Amino acid sequence: MTVLSNRLAIDGGPPVRTAPLPWELPGAHFIGAEERALVDAVVDAKSPFRFYGPDLQGMVATLEREWCEAFGHRHALGVSSGSAALSIAMSALQIGPGDEVLIPGYLWVSCASAVVTAGAIPRLVDIDETFCMDPDDLARKIGPHSRAVLIVHMSGAPGRVDRLVEVARAHGLAVIEDCAQASGGRFRGTSVGRSGDIGIFSFQLNKNMTSGEGGVVVTDDDALARRMVALHDLGYPRTAAGRLDVSDPECQLWGKGARMSELAGAMALGQFRKLPQITGAMRSAKWAIRKRLEGLPGVTFRTIVDPEGDSGPFLIATFRSAEAAEFTVNALRAEGIKGPEGSLACLTMREFGLHWYYNIPSLVQKRSNSRDGFPWTHPANAFASDYAYGRGTLPVADDLSDRAMILSIASNLSAADVDDIVTAFAKVLAATADRF
Ligand SMILES: Cc1ncc(COP(=O)(O)O)c(C=O)c1O
Repeated sequence: MTVLSNRLAIDGGPPVRTAPLPWELPGAHFIGAEERALVDAVVDAKSPFRFYGPDLQGMVATLEREWCEAFGHRHALGVSSGSAALSIAMSALQIGPGDEVLIPGYLWVSCASAVVTAGAIPRLVDIDETFCMDPDDLARKIGPHSRAVLIVHMSGAPGRVDRLVEVARAHGLAVIEDCAQASGGRFRGTSVGRSGDIGIFSFQLNKNMTSGEGGVVVTDDDALARRMVALHDLGYPRTAAGRLDVSDPECQLWGKGARMSELAGAMALGQFRKLPQITGAMRSAKWAIRKRLEGLPGVTFRTIVDPEGDSGPFLIATFRSAEAAEFTVNALRAEGIKGPEGSLACLTMREFGLHWYYNIPSLVQKRSNSRDGFPWTHPANAFASDYAYGRGTLPVADDLSDRAMILSIASNLSAADVDDIVTAFAKVLAATADRF
């Protein structure tokens, strides 16, 4: 689109565009005949349960097999959500009272929740300019009660995975990779979820592929896999006929009731087969935008260690000050860089809610689901009585969350949409260069 005036729309000039950008929801744009045919097969077979039924279609089992083939995992297990997957991972590693799990300050509430509901203590680790966990701060924060590190590949791209794993291993800690936001991503050629002991993925609507609800846990470890099968179900493994097998004293656990249904499995399978297309579209649009804007004054982009492994759903930019970030976002929205009503396409990072540790009231206030204040009050957790979770705990996360913005990259952006985003950004940056 030709820019008729340099006057910003926020100051009364003509906007770059008036039509909203597409909804962010990456997988949703690709839902079509393939998903419908797979779901129909389950419905026609009257067999929506994965372990037995009149005419089992094996959707979840096929998804698990194809997932392993594509990404190189030894075991993949379909589950009901990414949050359930995190909780299963904690219990598979026997994490509980007396343990602390290191988590980054830029995360999702489910990461903290999985630790707390396991009875363990979350230990906050600062982020760096990758917007993922800072390996140096991880090394500083590890203590005598540390049991595991939860690495979170935020906003679609892994951080310094190799260094984080190195630090964790040097201290004998387990590593869980939260790949909920990065399905289809890689780090230096290795699929995400393969660098630690357990990887988890989410198929919730905002994720790179979706079945509405759902997820996968992966591991290369046979013993962990066996525990996770029992944990995601009713606490026991199943026989070949799909019936519970309570005979193994080594595998009598408490299940979380987090199986994936065949309906979700069918949707997820259809989406999984399109994942390279979905992430490919986002990655190429995002890097096209980024390359055209890089070097303009006043803006810096998130450090992405391995751009080829970025799954592409978000562009994160930082500015000189919180005021500059806020002004830029408001000015971009006025230029038409926003989604339809209800979408969260263009935000200051401050507005990104439960993605920041200090915005999670149950963490900051050390809330409990039980009357006795568990796990905070558990005697084995007394070591953490002075741990604080309020704003001010992680200076880099605080600073970056103040000065950054996040733009969703829809999986169906047209070349014209990309042009408009670039035009609007350049227009706003040019007009604000002297203001901040
Ligand atoms: C980083 C991260 N971890 C875990 C989850 C939990 O996934 P779900 O919504 O499927 O429970 C999400 C997404 O919601 C997430 O973004």
